[in-house]
Amino acid sequence: MTNFDEQMKKRVAENNSVIRGYLPEVEGFQCTLLDAVDYSMLVGGKKLRPLLMQQTFVMFGGTSNAIRPFMAAIEMIHTHSLIHDDLPALDNDEYRRGKKTTHAVYGEAMAILAGDALLNLAYETAVKAFAEAPGDPNVPRALEILTRKTGSYGMLGGQSVDVEYAGKSLTDEQLSFIYGLKTGALIEASMMIGAVLAGASDEETEQIEQAARCVGMAFQIQDDILDVTGQEEELGKPINSDEKNRKTTWVTVHGLDAAREEVERYSKEAVRLLGGLPYENEFLDELILHLINRTM
Ligand code: IPE
Ligand code: IPE
Ligand code: MG
Ligand code: MG
Ligand code: MG
Repeated sequence: MTNFDEQMKKRVAENNSVIRGYLPEVEGFQCTLLDAVDYSMLVGGKKLRPLLMQQTFVMFGGTSNAIRPFMAAIEMIHTHSLIHDDLPALDNDEYRRGKKTTHAVYGEAMAILAGDALLNLAYETAVKAFAEAPGDPNVPRALEILTRKTGSYGMLGGQSVDVEYAGKSLTDEQLSFIYGLKTGALIEASMMIGAVLAGASDEETEQIEQAARCVGMAFQIQDDILDVTGQEEELGKPINSDEKNRKTTWVTVHGLDAAREEVERYSKEAVRLLGGLPYENEFLDELILHLINRTM
């Protein structure tokens, strides 16, 4: 194992235990809903967004306890987006994170409700920052970013255009709009919140937003590539989902080679933008560059 892999393993394990601490007990008359929430959160997943948040926080020298509930909240919102993305009405996929999707295990009604419950739980969790970091002046701004980047001008807006334009041709500008929102927005929120909670200025937070936008674009284009070239066992989700759903993707428009070049270009641009700030986190740079060749 390389030094990077070891650090990665350690950090993800630490972050997993933070996230776990904010999950509800599976009990009460609504225990099936809570079990579906628990299953969806713990079944697997790279937990990349909490890691990006935490590492951006580290980059700016953050110390506030407010980071903890926000790390859990972003993963809850992301998991909500995956449960709903997999539903028969959206991408209709049977596997996620190496296991059966939430609707395949619990039924469609319970999966819709578990997705809703996770979105709400994310906000229930984020507001705990007021109690866990009393007097932290940055919590309201972090909350504003979290809510805005999730909604109609963020992830959900992107998902809506993604489904609406299935089977239709899209310009690069329209495709970038979709990727910037459906995938970019939560990655932007992750890194911006890490910066804000560490006390970054508005200008610095904007620079982080630009860098994160590049990470998001690279991440979604790589996701499109893996949908064609990936190994299902490793990926943990079905390949050829985009073809099945007649999605226009970076790969269908530009081909695999150009898509691969674009992933590299966006990732290097992200690292270059981070390099323009008067702070440094080598691990974060390495993480972004490692994602270029990710296979899951
Ligand atoms: C999948 O995200 C959905 C996209 C935005 C492309 P991830 O690849 O981060 O999924 P998990 O969390 O590791 O399962
Ligand atoms: C989904 O994009 C992005 C989300 C907001 C969930 P995809 O539909 O390509 O993600 P996967 O491939 O199912 O993970
Ligand atoms: Mg989708
Ligand atoms: Mg999908
Ligand atoms: Mg995909």
